Amino acid sequence: MSDANLAGEVKFRVAPQMQVVARTRAPAVEDLSQIVQAIRAQDAGLQTGQFGTVIFKSTTVSGVDLKLEPLQPSIGTVVHGIDLAQVIDNPSMIQFLRELWLERRVIMFRGQEHLTREEMVRFAECFGEVGAHHGERDHVPGSDGKGPTTAPGFPDMLVLRSGEKSAGAASGWHSDATWSPRPPMGSILRCIEAPPVGGDTSFCDAYAMWEGLSDETKKITAKLSAVHVGNDIHQMNGVTPSAVHPVPRTHPETGGTVLFAQSGFVRRFAEGHGLTPEQEQALLFELFERQGQPEYTCRFKWAPGSVAMWDNRAVLHRATADFWPHSRHMERLTILDHDHARRAPYYDPA
Ligand SMILES: [Fe+2]
Repeated sequence: MSDANLAGEVKFRVAPQMQVVARTRAPAVEDLSQIVQAIRAQDAGLQTGQFGTVIFKSTTVSGVDLKLEPLQPSIGTVVHGIDLAQVIDNPSMIQFLRELWLERRVIMFRGQEHLTREEMVRFAECFGEVGAHHGERDHVPGSDGKGPTTAPGFPDMLVLRSGEKSAGAASGWHSDATWSPRPPMGSILRCIEAPPVGGDTSFCDAYAMWEGLSDETKKITAKLSAVHVGNDIHQMNGVTPSAVHPVPRTHPETGGTVLFAQSGFVRRFAEGHGLTPEQEQALLFELFERQGQPEYTCRFKWAPGSVAMWDNRAVLHRATADFWPHSRHMERLTILDHDHARRAPYYDPA
């Protein structure tokens, strides 16, 4: 939150990125409540409808007809025609989804609002161990009693709420909890309430980020590790978590190499990097510049019941902070690899 005021005119108590979009949508209005009114009036006529062309591929798995809608050539597929409550006991479908998830980095589903939270947990358990709300159970942010909001009766399910009075969104590129020595394998996010427009989540392919580096940069970077540092909200009993991970990471299931350094949590290279401060900053800038390249990135619009499940080892993600004063309400589970040996990032160039 911030109460910085844009252009010195109107007192906002809204995250800075939200202010910028709001101010550009109502540039001539001087009063905060009038800005809210103006934006709500602009969005009042929005309806949900379906038309236009959708590109998809049909397939049948375990007798279930699916339509697979690629959001980009290389990343992100929406799986239509599936009821996640029905696949929990269907190993063939789970196997299909896991392979698709590894290939496409992030898969999405629509119309899953009927699933109970219990069923969401059971669905997540089909892919790994459900973690605490930020991953491993040895570091649970705010465990002094002032932790983040979780769903009633489901302390592992993180609640992410934003609205007119409390606006915010994780709008910087990041992978979840890379400040942990063993960051979660994946995350599952379900939308409970979506703004009428805005609040999309973007995903960026970390394989392409690595592939896109020059040979010279790959050579220098291959020897480096980076220091990932959590934010204040990730503190546990006043201690800010941090972890050191190799900059290129070998994906433990596909064997591919990803660029595992994101501006959200990486602050510097680990000791012994041998770079001058100027070289270090220039190299970090070069790596971070890969984030959000359109060719590597897909964007997902939320509706109530939409679900995204991403491979936290293979994609970065960020929310879009453009929907204030509307409300956005999401619930997230993290998934840990059943294979404990694969949880800590490593780089094996062989
Ligand atoms: Fe996140």
